[in-house]
Amino acid sequence: MNNTEYKQAIEQLNLWSKHYYVLDDPITTDEVYDKLYHEVVEYEQSNPDALDKNSPTQRVGDMISEGFTKESHLSRMWSLEDIFDKEGLEKWLTKTYKLDSNVSFYCEPKYDGASLNLVYENGVLVKGITRGDGTIGELITQNVKTIKSIPLTIEHKETIEIRGEVVIFKSEFEKINKLRQAEGEAVFANPRNAAAGSLRQLDSSITAKRNLVFLPYGVGVDTLPHKLLSEKMEYIYSLGFREPPQRAITKGYDEIEAIYEVMNKDRDSYDMMLDGMVVKVNEIAAQIDMGYTVKVPRFSVAYKFPAVEKITTVKEIILQVGRTGAVTPVAIVEPTNIDGVVVERATLHNFDEIERKDIRLGDKVIILRSGDVIPKIIKVLTHERDGSEVEVVKPTHCPVCDKELLQEEVLLKCQNLECDARVVNAIMYFASKPCLNIDGLGVKIVEALFKSGLVKSVVDLFDLSLEKLLELEGFKEKKAHNLLNSLHNAKGQEYWRFINALGIEHVGEVASKTLAENFGFAFVNATKEQIIECEGIGEEMAESLLEFVRVNAETITKLQTILEPLEPVKREEAKENPFKGKTVVLTGTMSESRGAIKEMLESLGAKVSGSISKKTDFLIYGEDAGSKYDKAVKLDVKTLTENEMKELI
Ligand code: IVH
Repeated sequence: MNNTEYKQAIEQLNLWSKHYYVLDDPITTDEVYDKLYHEVVEYEQSNPDALDKNSPTQRVGDMISEGFTKESHLSRMWSLEDIFDKEGLEKWLTKTYKLDSNVSFYCEPKYDGASLNLVYENGVLVKGITRGDGTIGELITQNVKTIKSIPLTIEHKETIEIRGEVVIFKSEFEKINKLRQAEGEAVFANPRNAAAGSLRQLDSSITAKRNLVFLPYGVGVDTLPHKLLSEKMEYIYSLGFREPPQRAITKGYDEIEAIYEVMNKDRDSYDMMLDGMVVKVNEIAAQIDMGYTVKVPRFSVAYKFPAVEKITTVKEIILQVGRTGAVTPVAIVEPTNIDGVVVERATLHNFDEIERKDIRLGDKVIILRSGDVIPKIIKVLTHERDGSEVEVVKPTHCPVCDKELLQEEVLLKCQNLECDARVVNAIMYFASKPCLNIDGLGVKIVEALFKSGLVKSVVDLFDLSLEKLLELEGFKEKKAHNLLNSLHNAKGQEYWRFINALGIEHVGEVASKTLAENFGFAFVNATKEQIIECEGIGEEMAESLLEFVRVNAETITKLQTILEPLEPVKREEAKENPFKGKTVVLTGTMSESRGAIKEMLESLGAKVSGSISKKTDFLIYGEDAGSKYDKAVKLDVKTLTENEMKELI
């Protein structure tokens, strides 16, 4: 084989591979493929300098990493708001049409897998990054290269981020689990876990064996000229990516509902698991106009498929004591497989619910599992009773510390602040992801630390030393070092994490962010009036916060000294200018990205809104300004061209 033949062979192999993995339409046999592949391997061995990046040999996973490094996405990876029924769709459409009444929608499946961001530079795949927290993920390029439906090179030279979902086909999932069972390994609960787990293997040869599949659903940073999402996606597919099993451009409620029905009806016949349909505004300019809330895009929504139900038997009711002392009953049921997940327990929320639904031990019940939500009992089949069922007795004492329980509205509560379960759960919460995100504090370790007496409260965590840890059973040097390291890393984090980690009742992640932004370190001195003035914070939260601060002032100070969290920087007040304090709407194509102009105006103290109303002070318009311009004129809102805006500044 000479170099020209080598290049031709690569092209031939990649074409065969594309037909097999991307187009689902094989045009040769394994034998023919293997023969040519082998010749390519031989050529590369004798001519290592001539190696082509696009060669299929570059997909074999023979890399073992020590761990994954963190990597920033070029632009944020968002998540989606969920809706569950016709009413939800109607509400979402009303909201969306208020922002722009003239849009159409691109509908495609919501795949149940793991999200992945691919970065191509100069037409070459340079990075594969997991979603992570949306801003920073893990770099798993070596593993990503083993996925045959991901092209190693594309005919698109500018930098582009292609986003999509990595899934495992249902048939493949069953094969893997059978194999794991035969080898005495734990089986994966569902295809989603199997895909996510396979993607994060340190040994990429394991990833290679799992036959993962990539389905693109969008782009991040891009320079594509298309005005419609549907055109962008067609272009992405044309670069050599798999197309979705179903997609449609729709106008309005009826058409969305119709395609949703089709996908839901057909979902069993698709190779991959779907958990809904994603509806996206098709016009890119409208997408930019609508923008994002703190969490999700306004221009897109996940319309979930109905949950799946099964009949099973209640075997036992166990009691869990949470960090707030709330005692929650949990039903243990006869294990039953619902849409690929083995369900063994169902939440019951509280004892009122048991009474209301009249759930008894031994009852046949219908349980419902919907996506990520913990399964719940929706109905007792009372006509199936034979008299052997046993009523559930409401406990009077804490199952953990045996102190008397108090009924607080519907909740049963353990009042004992030192109850083992409460303390252990509070420590777990302190270390959890949306709090201080401390690795290595799983339930087993926290229980061991607590039982040994080394850690009686979160403050004690920071007095741990190597000597102390090594005295504990199961702690070797490495594990102890890792834990001390993670604890060290808990320092210097964002302040909202610190507030959230305190575990103040009713104050969660969103409220913690609000408090951090509005008050910074001074949140402990805020008055009730000041607290309630913050958006999204009500009376109950304010009271709970004030009470917490009153009782725990000393602990808060101590923790803050230990953890040295970062005080959020306040945006400096803008100097006087025509836009300060004004509400501004942007529309049409401008000389810079709309995001950049928005940021500039915000730094001048303006509020940039997505929709025109009587309250709008200025509409700033670029080329191809549409309905917003007309509406502004109608409402007598002052309109400015981009240049006029610049002159005013
Ligand atoms: S779009 C701008 N489209 O669902 C919004 N996401 O619940 C970005 N997902 O993290 C997401 N199929 O991993 C989009 N067709 C699809 C999807 C999809 C699956 C996942 C994705 C995302 C999660 C949000």
